[in-house]
Amino acid sequence: MQTQTSGFYDTGLTPSPETLPASPPPGLAAALAGRLVVVGGGNMARALLGGALAGADAALLARVRVVERSEDTRTALARDLGVTVLPDLSELPAAAPELDASDTVLWAVKPQGFAAAAAELPPGFAAPALHVSVMAGVTLARLAQATGAAALVRTMPNTPALVGQGMTGLFAAPAVSAAQRNSVQALLKSTGELLWVEAEGDLDSVTAVSGSGPAYVFLLMEAMMAAGRDMGLPAAAARQLVLQTLAGATALARASEVDPAVLRARVTSPGGTTHAAISHMLDGGLPALVQAALHKARERSQELGQA
Ligand SMILES: NC(=O)c1ccc[n+]([C@@H]2O[C@H](COP(=O)([O-])OP(=O)(O)OC[C@H]3O[C@@H](n4cnc5c(N)ncnc54)[C@H](OP(=O)(O)O)[C@@H]3O)[C@@H](O)[C@H]2O)c1
Repeated sequence: MQTQTSGFYDTGLTPSPETLPASPPPGLAAALAGRLVVVGGGNMARALLGGALAGADAALLARVRVVERSEDTRTALARDLGVTVLPDLSELPAAAPELDASDTVLWAVKPQGFAAAAAELPPGFAAPALHVSVMAGVTLARLAQATGAAALVRTMPNTPALVGQGMTGLFAAPAVSAAQRNSVQALLKSTGELLWVEAEGDLDSVTAVSGSGPAYVFLLMEAMMAAGRDMGLPAAAARQLVLQTLAGATALARASEVDPAVLRARVTSPGGTTHAAISHMLDGGLPALVQAALHKARERSQELGQA
């Protein structure tokens, strides 16, 4: 890789361990000690299982149960993933008797459907297992109350998880062991990057930054594409220019050792075209507006968690 260290086009790129691919995590078959029960077989579960079970052998597939109430979705999941699919959680004891500490229950129903779904479990049946939630805003306290479990992991994924480019924040209750954290990582790794946070409250900040974040980027995309069309570019051309510019800028920022603010300054020569646009954005208060918006998102996440 050719590296420039100064000048207008300096990107701060230097070969470093951070730019090299991370070593692969242990496979799910090794990391998952017992059985996996997935409650809700919708978009998130399919994305997650599609990646985690890719190339899985029959022994691993035989350890998985998906509970999904829609018949069409059940048929598709059984066909595409080769796992056992049940229509109702009340059928779980017959299909996965005696859940114990080696087993994992992944909750992937909509947050508003969680209480009703959990109520279908015989009381205490799933309490010894590790419970992992991808449900937005369902607190550890609610998970503990509904399942009776102590080994709980709450996660906050975002929608790019559906294409393997997600960013997921995770928080583990104290009862979660290192081995259980490993199995959670193996389970979620195919959805994108994972970040453990130190306090459950940090998940409200994760929600504000990455959980809701794709929508902020889509808004910027919309505005840039609209401007391109206004200037006479065909819609397809405006779309291509914007999508590749955002992907390229992200790749450059990721590969560079310097802060995005420095990268920006290096491509903003005084009196130039970028300077004209950036000055207008700064005069309009864009950075403060974005920061205030993210604080609003975090406040809303906190409110929803208390509801
Ligand atoms: N999609 C994302 O990108 C994303 C991002 C971040 C977080 N999440 C979280 O992931 C969770 C799932 O989201 P999703 O987009 O995958 O939702 P989804 O596509 O609606 O999937 C949920 C599935 O669970 C089924 N279900 C509901 N209650 C059930 C029950 N009691 N027993 C069995 N199946 C039941 C639903 O069936 P019906 O359709 O019949 O209700 C549906 O098929 C949500 O809590 C969300 O907050 C998702």
